[in-house]
Amino acid sequence: MDLKIQNKNALITGGSRGLGKAAAIHLANEGVNIGVCGRSEEDLNLTINELENYGVKAFKFICDVSELETINSMYQYFVAEMGEIDILVNNVGGTRSRENLEKTSTQDFKSTFDLNLFSGFELMKMVTPNMKKNQWGRIINIASIWGREYGGNISYMSSKAALIAATKHAAVSLASQGITVNSIAPGSIEHPGGSWERFKNQNSEEVVSDFIANNLPMGKFGWPESFGTLVAYLSSEGAGLITGSCVVIDGGQSISMI
Ligand SMILES: NC(=O)c1ccc[n+]([C@@H]2O[C@H](COP(=O)([O-])OP(=O)(O)OC[C@H]3O[C@@H](n4cnc5c(N)ncnc54)[C@H](OP(=O)(O)O)[C@@H]3O)[C@@H](O)[C@H]2O)c1
Repeated sequence: MDLKIQNKNALITGGSRGLGKAAAIHLANEGVNIGVCGRSEEDLNLTINELENYGVKAFKFICDVSELETINSMYQYFVAEMGEIDILVNNVGGTRSRENLEKTSTQDFKSTFDLNLFSGFELMKMVTPNMKKNQWGRIINIASIWGREYGGNISYMSSKAALIAATKHAAVSLASQGITVNSIAPGSIEHPGGSWERFKNQNSEEVVSDFIANNLPMGKFGWPESFGTLVAYLSSEGAGLITGSCVVIDGGQSISMI
C-alpha cells in the first residue's frame, strides 16, 4: 500500500534504538526523510547508516531531550538540514524514579514529566506553525498502556496519562487545519538494548516465564516491527480521519476495554 508520504520530513526523538528506530525504518521505507536524536552518538551513527540504505536523507542530533533548553537547537538544526517537519514522533520516554508516592521525590517526579511530557510539548508547539501553513501534519506521541490504566511507577504513569490528555487536547484544537495528533500506548515490547531485554537478562527463567504467563496473552513479548507499521500508518494520508486517538498496541496485555 502506498501511504502517500514520500518526500515528507519526519523528526523522531529517540529514533536510534527500539521503538523509535522501528518507526524510523518504516517511515524511511515509505520514502520519508528522517531526523533522529539520542544521547549515544554510536547508536545514532549505526541507525543513520541503516536509514540511508532506504535512499532517503537521514540526520542525527546528539542531545538529552529532558534538558528542555536543547530542544530549540535540535529543532533548528533539523529544519536547516532537511526543511520543515511534516511528521513529528515524540518517542523518548522513561522514568527517573521507579517508586510510589512516598518514595518519589518531587524533583524526580518533575524530571520524569520533562522527559515524557514537556520535551514533546515543546516540539509540538515548534512544528505546528509550518503544519498549519501547509494544512497538513502528523504528530504521534508515544505513551504507554500505563498512561491509560494503573501500572508502573507513579511518575511514569502520571506523565504518560498527561501526554495522552495533551494529545487529545491538541488534536481537537488542530483538527480543522489538516493536522492529526494521536498517541500510541504500547504494552511490553522487547528489543535489543531495551528494558525488557534487561528484565530477561537480570531475572531467572522462572520469573520471566511467570511474568509472560501472567501478563502477556500472546505468550511472548511484543515486537517493534508491528509498532513501526502502526506509526507509518498513522503518518499516512489515508489515516487523515484519525485524530485524538490513543491507539493501543499490546497483544491484549492491558485490562481496560476503552
Ligand atoms: N518498550 C516497551 O515495552 C514500551 C512499553 C510502553 C511504552 N514504551 C514507550 O515507548 C517509547 C520508546 O521505548 P523504547 O523501549 O524504545 O525505549 P528505549 O529503549 O529507552 O529507547 C529510547 C530511545 O530514546 C533515546 N533516549 C532515551 N532517553 C533519551 C533522552 N533523555 N534524550 C534523548 N534521547 C533519549 C535512546 O537513545 P540513547 O539512550 O542513546 O539516548 C533510544 O534511541 C518510550 O516513550 C517508552 O516509554 C515502551
